[in-house]
Amino acid sequence: MEKIGKVADFQKPKCVMVKGKEIACFLVDGKIHCIENACPHAGGPLCEGDLAEFTVTCPWHGWSFDVRSGDAVNPQYAAGATAYKVEVKGDDVFIDM
Ligand code: FES
Repeated sequence: MEKIGKVADFQKPKCVMVKGKEIACFLVDGKIHCIENACPHAGGPLCEGDLAEFTVTCPWHGWSFDVRSGDAVNPQYAAGATAYKVEVKGDDVFIDM
């Protein structure tokens, strides 16, 4: 598990670098969800996308993904983004890469 920050750091969507990889982190309903930041379509920055409940929409061409699973929402046939397990211990947030 890699520490990626404190809970207070994730009140807004945030991109962190872990082991050379950019990870997009989203707080929804009090829980932090992490998926790869590079959009599976053409590498757009998912952490800069619009978030509506559990769905983030890529700012480049509008593909959307469920931040819990990384699954593509629209278009549904598209490859999903890799999702990572998140663990919170006290105030610290960890990610399982
Ligand atoms: S790069 Fe994300 S939709 Fe195209």
